[in-house]
Amino acid sequence: MSKPESSSPPWWHDAVVYQLYVPSFADANADGWGDLWGVRERLDYLADLGVDAIWLSPCYPSPQIDHGYDVADYFDINPDYGDLSVFDEVLAQAESRGIRILMDIVPNHCSSEHKWFRSAIAAEPGSPERDRFYFRDGLGPNGDTPPNNWRSVFGGPTWTRLIDDNATPGQWYLHTFAPQQPDFNWSNAEVVDHFDRALRFWFDRGVDGFRVDAVAVAAKAPGLPDAPPVSRDVAENDVWSYNPYTVFWPTGHDYWKHWRSVIDEYQETHPGRELVTVSEAYTPGRPEQLAMYVTGEFHQSFAFELMLAPWRSDSIEEVVRDTVATMDTLHVPPAWTINNHDTQRVVTRLGRANATELSSYTGNNLVYVDAPVDLSVGLVRARALVLFAAALPGTFYIYQGEELGLEEVLDLPDNVRQDPIFARTEGRQIGRDGCRVPMPWTADPTTGFGFTSPNVETWLPQPKNWAPLSVEAQERNPASMLHLYRRALRARRSVDGPLAWVNNSPDEIVAFVRGDTLVILNPTSTPCELTDSVVGDRYPILSSNDLDVGSRLVPADSCVWWR
Ligand code: NOJ
Repeated sequence: MSKPESSSPPWWHDAVVYQLYVPSFADANADGWGDLWGVRERLDYLADLGVDAIWLSPCYPSPQIDHGYDVADYFDINPDYGDLSVFDEVLAQAESRGIRILMDIVPNHCSSEHKWFRSAIAAEPGSPERDRFYFRDGLGPNGDTPPNNWRSVFGGPTWTRLIDDNATPGQWYLHTFAPQQPDFNWSNAEVVDHFDRALRFWFDRGVDGFRVDAVAVAAKAPGLPDAPPVSRDVAENDVWSYNPYTVFWPTGHDYWKHWRSVIDEYQETHPGRELVTVSEAYTPGRPEQLAMYVTGEFHQSFAFELMLAPWRSDSIEEVVRDTVATMDTLHVPPAWTINNHDTQRVVTRLGRANATELSSYTGNNLVYVDAPVDLSVGLVRARALVLFAAALPGTFYIYQGEELGLEEVLDLPDNVRQDPIFARTEGRQIGRDGCRVPMPWTADPTTGFGFTSPNVETWLPQPKNWAPLSVEAQERNPASMLHLYRRALRARRSVDGPLAWVNNSPDEIVAFVRGDTLVILNPTSTPCELTDSVVGDRYPILSSNDLDVGSRLVPADSCVWWR
């Protein structure tokens, strides 16, 4: 899509981007899995919601071991989801509604079904085919000890040994995630060139950018040294907190600087295009890393802080203050998010009995804190948090289903769980299936609540009580989460200017002003009475819980905008 005629900031600076998890959005070909035909049919819903762009979860050919994050071909569309022509239609029809498309790209690893990995297995140790990945001999006289002690993010060792057709063991290969996701060797020029071509291929088709997967682990220390010993209270797969020889290994930044040069060159040679990349790197508590990713590398890097902060004014204000301050000095708008496909849904997180004390972040976003959940409390808080986040300066990334207030489905039977984390940790970690359950569109359970066709099983079972959460039911209820999202995303367009903290507000609330809008978040269980000195002559224009806000009381667990 081309840029409007003006010298205004790029479109993405204050955009709302909808993370569309293709397998769970809408199934148009009656196989129980979402697809691009389903996306094409539902674009009006996204236009009504008020989004500026869609980030499509990986929809390349893939054996779906990690639901598309195991890419078998970076230049095509998964036949179960459609083909390049339906992709082009989605792009054109989205564009006609003023919606841009971002792809998800996975540079750290591919699928073990990728033709390069198949040829690497067939080739000899030391061959150019193997050099595109990390193949190493094992240790010990028979080579049956892995080349180093690294663990995989999904559990188990990060190495898998090749066994040939005659059952003869061979070299080992490295996979930061599942064994079916071999890591690319980014020191190999062919790998670099492959991704340059992939970026240009999708830009040529008209996509406006990429969400870039797992950038923090793409580089590895030369010689692949053993990771330092891990203390007992750290989960073995919490690689993020203890393996400095891959997590944030500095040469990664060289790869992304190169990407940026490719993207900038594309933009310069295609006048009117405004491209964006957003990197996925968990940087809470590491502002220097966040700063590096957005300095000559990606246009944005996710600010995961709000997704991970405990439900308390001091923590929330601190993370927003730090993130805004860091990004302001760099002149980069933050990329806020409160949900994604790897994290327990916000309604469940904030409904946890310990939501005010603990962050769900333990160094590894895939490891969750367990505590009893009260969904009604979680929903009220989630409504407040979204209103708060929608008023912040920067881009707002929302994850499919959060606009319906869907909860994490915690009670999926073990035999339907598909996330490799569940099997590889032998069930010690339930994994991420619970936030990926297909969307409820209608009240009709025989069609997977409108997700699929009559009597087709959805790929993950939906809770039986989801009819009231469906789009159809929420359409009819002006107080629903869906309507709140629509109101918030619309009203957000008139919130402008830098964020200024209101310093004379009570400690238990978070208060800031942008332009003429005052935003108050009260993350406590008691209402808070505001004084004239905070409110001035403003009136409430939007409230998260639709209580009577005519008074100066900001209800418990709520957010109110005043103007
Ligand atoms: C991060 C993605 O968000 C997650 O879903 C995936 O499993 C890993 N990267 C590996 O690609």
